Amino acid sequence: METIVLRFERIDSTNSAALDYAKRGADEGLVIVAAEQTAGRGRHGRIWHSAAGDGLYFSIILRPTISIENFPLLTLMAGVAAKDALEEFGVAVDLKWVNDLLVKSRKIGGILAETAETDRGPAVVIGIGINLRSRAMPPEIAEIATAIEAETGTLVSALSMESALIRYLVYFYDIISGPDGCLKIREEWQKRSTYANGKFVRVTTEDAVITGRTDGLEKDGGLRVITDSGLVVIRAGDVENLRFEGASAAPEQRVD
Ligand code: BTN
Repeated sequence: METIVLRFERIDSTNSAALDYAKRGADEGLVIVAAEQTAGRGRHGRIWHSAAGDGLYFSIILRPTISIENFPLLTLMAGVAAKDALEEFGVAVDLKWVNDLLVKSRKIGGILAETAETDRGPAVVIGIGINLRSRAMPPEIAEIATAIEAETGTLVSALSMESALIRYLVYFYDIISGPDGCLKIREEWQKRSTYANGKFVRVTTEDAVITGRTDGLEKDGGLRVITDSGLVVIRAGDVENLRFEGASAAPEQRVD
């Protein structure tokens, strides 16, 4: 995949812009980056803190050839790419299903995948936000979030983060688009996430709250959870870790 980057000083949301470009026929590989977003959004319509210079606000248009039921794997692919990119700057990242980039249970970034029907077929916009510094975060976000500067003591530029991210996205997108691509991305994600297997979690879905132990990913990227009443496959929902690592005496302690 070839990439072209369009940069904005300020925009409502790089995802909204990328969706517009996709609907108007833009090629895959078009990247939108903004120094600031005035209406940055996360999953479930949550606000994404997007102050000027505090983060990388990034979206890329894909026109995937994988089958539509495997599109959720694109979010996992982006997580794998973002983790590897962040590790180039010395940040050890955990992946929490389905879209969270965590450092010691605090969020350093997130992924928002959105689809659009276009004349050229379905397009997927992968939006990625990465916290570069935390100075202007509102207190309620500062409590649960972190940033590269806070973790490493170094202020990384949005441009360096962006170029590492593009390099890994291109690499893993080629893999997912190739032979056994979905299987390979599933494995890459499982290797990188402590949430993939054996994690005691609570999952809140639209109509239920379940607790259980994670048991890997389904073919399409769904999270398998073994509950007291058997296997449940989660395709949409919020996952919380219910136990501090190694603290077996603390059965229901929330850490995120
Ligand atoms: C989440 O964790 O809920 C996902 C956050 C995604 C934020 C990014 S920032 C760039 C892109 N534009 C947006 O409006 N959202 C995504």
